[in-house]
Amino acid sequence: MIVLGNVTRRFGKLEAVRDLTLEIRQGEIFGLVGPDGAGKTTTLRMLAGLLDPTEGTVRVAGLDVGRNLDAVKDRIGYMAQKFGLYGDLTVEENMLFYSDLFGIEASTRDRMMAEFLEMTRMTPFRHRPAAQLSGGMKQKLALMSTLLHRPEVLFLDEPTNGVDPLSRRDFWEILYRLAKEGMTILVSTAYLDEAERCNRVGLMNKGRMIECDSPAALKSRLASVCFLAESGDLRQARRRLLAAPGVLEAVPAGSALHVYLEEGARREDVERAAGGVTLRPLEPALEDVFIALIRREDRRAAA
Ligand SMILES: Nc1ncnc2c1ncn2[C@@H]1O[C@H](COP(=O)(O)OP(=O)(O)O)[C@@H](O)[C@H]1O
Ligand SMILES: [Mg+2]
Repeated sequence: MIVLGNVTRRFGKLEAVRDLTLEIRQGEIFGLVGPDGAGKTTTLRMLAGLLDPTEGTVRVAGLDVGRNLDAVKDRIGYMAQKFGLYGDLTVEENMLFYSDLFGIEASTRDRMMAEFLEMTRMTPFRHRPAAQLSGGMKQKLALMSTLLHRPEVLFLDEPTNGVDPLSRRDFWEILYRLAKEGMTILVSTAYLDEAERCNRVGLMNKGRMIECDSPAALKSRLASVCFLAESGDLRQARRRLLAAPGVLEAVPAGSALHVYLEEGARREDVERAAGGVTLRPLEPALEDVFIALIRREDRRAAA
């Protein structure tokens, strides 16, 4: 449903996205994760037809986005990082506005609005002005407005940014339901617990996708370089570890350190070089995976 083939986007000299290749199947929830400035929004905007790639091909639902923009727009929903809601209009009025914008027939519209309000449990709030909604409810309203024309492919740019954890979980329940009905979803997020919920995640850094796989596969692939170090003096242990060859990073986590080694580095060598620090195997979370991968990438770029 989504195909990026060697896509590069430059802004002047800056390569916001560099040689990105990716395929996403129907019904998949794919997460784009990466620090600010990684190129997530630029990627989503190219997919939504709001920005041309400098090089490469962008296809959505079997159509080349640049050549079939109108047909593509009918089949996709794009929820921008700052989605435009009208604060003085109610929930219902905002949805009416967006259905007019998409030229949706009144009978279809009324049916869809009722269905979405029910699905998002927003029916009791339908007469409330958007400005008076909580962050989570605002995002649900933006999502509903994006769904009114029944898109097959959904692009969501950090849809839960700043939303409390319970409401984020709510939001994800809705995404699962949509994917189960066959919708293809590409969502960017800065939250790693959300990345964990995706079928696959792509980690972007400085315009490049540095890894792409299921959360479980990423974790098992990195398990051999993630360790736990305990010490009475964490600051000193950290300083020693960072000075040892083969150590990418040592991050305080509670009363211990999470330590990430370079590929091929031997744990005993690091323990010796760090002067009596003991490393124990760590079952990595996605957060560990991402820090290790980004540090590895930074190290390669610097070399
Ligand atoms: N319209 C633009 N003009 C110039 N630079 C841009 C533009 N849009 C994005 N960039 C730059 O491209 C890089 C990637 O940005 P973006 O795609 O917004 O990253 P992310 O969404 O991952 O934070 C950043 O360095 C950003 O400043
Ligand atoms: Mg962004």
